[in-house]
Amino acid sequence: MGGLPTMSWLGALGAVVAGVGAGDSPRRDMHSFANPEQVRVRHVALNLQVDFGARVLAGSATLHVERQPGAHADAPLVLDTKRLTIEGVEVLTAEQKRVPAAFSLGKPDPILGAALTVNLPPGAGAVTVNYRTAPEANALQWLDAPRTAGGKQPFLFTQSEAIHARTWIPLQDSPGVRVTYEATIKAPPGMTALMSAEHLPAQDGAFRFKMTRPIPSYLIALAVGDLPFRPLGARSGVYAEPPVVQSAAFEFADTEAMIATIEKRYGPYLWGRYDLLVLPPSFPFGGMENPLLTFATPTILAGDRSLVSLVAHELAHSWSGNLVTNATWSDFWLNEGFTVYIERRAVEDLYGPEQAAMESVLGLRDLREALKKLPPGEQVLHIDLAGRDPDDAVGPVAYEKGALFLTTLEHAFGRDRFDPFLRAYFDHFAFQSITTADFVAYLRAHLLNQDAQAAAAIDLDAWLSQPGLPPGYPEPKSARFEAVALAAREWVEGKVAARDIGTKAWSTHEWIHFLQALPESLPAERLAELDAAFGLTARPNAEVVDQWLLMAIRNQYHPADERVDSFLTKIGRRKYLMPLYGALIKTPEGRARAEALFAKARPFYHPITADSVARLLGIGDKP
Ligand code: BES
Ligand code: ZN
Repeated sequence: MGGLPTMSWLGALGAVVAGVGAGDSPRRDMHSFANPEQVRVRHVALNLQVDFGARVLAGSATLHVERQPGAHADAPLVLDTKRLTIEGVEVLTAEQKRVPAAFSLGKPDPILGAALTVNLPPGAGAVTVNYRTAPEANALQWLDAPRTAGGKQPFLFTQSEAIHARTWIPLQDSPGVRVTYEATIKAPPGMTALMSAEHLPAQDGAFRFKMTRPIPSYLIALAVGDLPFRPLGARSGVYAEPPVVQSAAFEFADTEAMIATIEKRYGPYLWGRYDLLVLPPSFPFGGMENPLLTFATPTILAGDRSLVSLVAHELAHSWSGNLVTNATWSDFWLNEGFTVYIERRAVEDLYGPEQAAMESVLGLRDLREALKKLPPGEQVLHIDLAGRDPDDAVGPVAYEKGALFLTTLEHAFGRDRFDPFLRAYFDHFAFQSITTADFVAYLRAHLLNQDAQAAAAIDLDAWLSQPGLPPGYPEPKSARFEAVALAAREWVEGKVAARDIGTKAWSTHEWIHFLQALPESLPAERLAELDAAFGLTARPNAEVVDQWLLMAIRNQYHPADERVDSFLTKIGRRKYLMPLYGALIKTPEGRARAEALFAKARPFYHPITADSVARLLGIGDKP
């Protein structure tokens, strides 16, 4: 492939692919200053010292570079950095000599950071940047020992997606650039360092890692803490802090079965091991698909394995996302929409169609709620992110509209054709970063063009570049949810008392559906009735209590105030915090409370969460 998009492309897709080339033709990533079309980084060798006292990673990154065919012989290497202190740059010349290199740091952009431009003599093969991170590096969270579960050792972890890798490594921070990497990490004695890579034997007291498959920069990850390990199966296990590791091993017991079921449909798991790391509660996400080592929030340790579809999700990224990667953040739905689709298929295999249907119904409801509020430009799958932080565009559209698009294709063509199509797609694009246009070309050639009648039901332009939902998608249905919704209706209408609702056998999902089926506004006395019957304020399940606290805030149900305070100051998962803070600031008293809580909780939040909440509250990003 290569060259400019052909006319049929543009004709067929119009605005969807305008300016976006097919195959491996050059494509600009608006969230990176880098120039991979001129000089491309192929391998990164890190040598870093972890300094908990100063909250700094210091050392070097050696980047192995390759001048691209047709590139100018003296084109410089352009890297992304954000808040890094660059202490010096050396290049390895064609004669294998290490010499200092001229470099310059551009004017910092608040979202993108600053371009680091390094003069690259013709034939130079590698560049070493000596640098240190800032204590407020966006990717890094430094936790003092008292803020961890174990309380004995401090903790450090990274979150590089979407564009935070540049705050701890100077590199070409674009998902369209894939690198292999190796790392030597010096941590304080007695601590364990883990990375999204294979472990090598320690040397001179330093941890060493090696990632032999080319990955995008957002998948480079590091964690350092007091982290014992429990095996789950032959190629899987879990790391967590000492007080958590046993319950984590219980919760994730189905991991091997999950790997096997996804492999059966989409081809072998190509990464070697699959381990999980349970982070402290300030982890800003539910999970993060760092290769070989999924990072997960402790809020999924419900004790009953009811939230393990998150493991299926992060594992599914081993195919959709880590193997076939979105080339730019506008193509993010290729990562997340495909992953939600595969996750639900795995849930169906392991826990049955009813469980998968419940998750689809909850997802579609989230999507419909989001579509009511989002401007039309943010309702499309292939999204325009000009001037925006890609983290702000994460929501149900990429995830649920993306998954629903694939489910619609599955229904139109049947599983017997759609499953092999997806498997061939992963084989075809393995270890590549692709755009929406690349996917569409493949979809046309290998599915749509095979059956004009089935294809007629698919309005591609509507799915990819129009707001809202195109008609004709399959509506997920759950019999158990219908019973729950009926109970909710009868309780609202006063036909049944809370304690007479038969909730004994309800799963986490049924509780969430029940709470979501209630009207947004309810008198506090009615919430008190529910609380008395079901002890909702005291529930340990984070997913249920999050939904409940949202209702409590909206309806000024004050007996839950203390739980709101402790939840907001003890859990840093952005998905929970944002709606709760959002509900609080709807009233003047609530806003005052939100600001006081944020001031108290901020040192505990990851910088990504803290920035998001600060923006929501209209407070400057930095104190
Ligand atoms: N890759 C995402 C997390 C992410 C997305 C981090 C964008 C930063 C920017 C991860 O796979 C994910 O989707 N996590 C979800 C869990 C899930 C089960 C949908 C989350 O964190 O809630
Ligand atoms: Zn995901």
